[in-house]
Amino acid sequence: MIVAIDGPAGSGKSTVASTLARRLGFRHLDTGAMYRALTWIALRDGVDVTDGAALAELARERPVSFGGDGSVELDGEDVRTAIREAEIDRLVPAVASHPEVRAVMRERQRALALGGDSVIEGRDIGKVVAPAADVKVFLQADEDERARRRAADRPGVEAETLAADLRDRDERDAVNTVPAADAVLLDTTELTIDEVVERIVGLVDAVR
Ligand code: DC
Repeated sequence: MIVAIDGPAGSGKSTVASTLARRLGFRHLDTGAMYRALTWIALRDGVDVTDGAALAELARERPVSFGGDGSVELDGEDVRTAIREAEIDRLVPAVASHPEVRAVMRERQRALALGGDSVIEGRDIGKVVAPAADVKVFLQADEDERARRRAADRPGVEAETLAADLRDRDERDAVNTVPAADAVLLDTTELTIDEVVERIVGLVDAVR
């Protein structure tokens, strides 16, 4: 079974997807982490984030893999913490904007999804990567609430800077952050993680 969880930054995707995956005993595939890891290695190796062809080649040569313990592995390193830095937040929309990069990533995401029951989180999962997903959810939340959540995740970065970065990312990611026509829209502004997870478990139970 495939559960697709899409939504913008700060909508609660990552926490919801990992909690849900644990609860269902499914694998958790974080496609945003794949774009983030590519951005991290491009910075490390001095690959220009405006060069789509070079980035696509890098993505093909250095595939990201997920460990069962939540690790994100690339080139023999666990990059799960490094990819959440504010510098990566700022550069990743440029990396994810290249069609050549997205083609490589989508192919890999589909291959990973074939590996078994999965919760896949991202932006374009329900619409493009896994249009046949059994359950599709698109999470939303107020901009202020999303900025507050981001601030809690990024201690040490000014709230104003984070809010401005979030607005900038929303704009740049908008074209690839699109709910599938058959996705269930869920506004998480007033909900706890457990409440969101409960609702999605209800959707999963209804189809199995
Ligand atoms: O959800 P996130 O903040 O971890 O995503 C990181 C970046 O990758 C963000 O700029 C959106 C982009 N992304 C994408 O374009 N498509 C996906 N399926 C997942 C993430």
